[in-house]
Amino acid sequence: MKIALGSDHGGFRLKSEIIKHLKNKGIEYNDFGTLNEESCDYSDFAVQVAEAVAAKEYDFGILICGTGIGISIAANKVPGVRAALCSDTFSAHATREHNDANILALGERIVGAGLALDIVDTFLNSKFEGGRHQKRIDKIADIEKKYCK
Ligand code: RB5
Repeated sequence: MKIALGSDHGGFRLKSEIIKHLKNKGIEYNDFGTLNEESCDYSDFAVQVAEAVAAKEYDFGILICGTGIGISIAANKVPGVRAALCSDTFSAHATREHNDANILALGERIVGAGLALDIVDTFLNSKFEGGRHQKRIDKIADIEKKYCK
């Protein structure tokens, strides 16, 4: 499994914890930045991770900012991306099972590191259920086709 990671300054510390966690588990990853806690713009990192995930260069993306909101909004502008902001483990498995989410977004100022790592594990270990959910994903793709020209 290959993971694309990105954050702004507001998510840098949590991203560092997630990197340690992925390393411990032997999961391959690439950190697209930011590389320190200097103020920067979350959209710059969201777009890099989102494009790499949409191009299927990675299995999943993980994006972190202060709230997880800005970075997930930005990532969801890239066609083919379904970024889900999760602050609990139920949402983390439900969004994989029902929405086939390909990017997990987290807010460093919202969830503690312990919960965040459980959310990461839950997200990465859950599977899309297909069936009735596929039709709904296809309708999201139709919206992209209508507006993303
Ligand atoms: C940065 O201060 C903060 O606005 C950003 O990390 C994020 O929370 C935006 O949604």
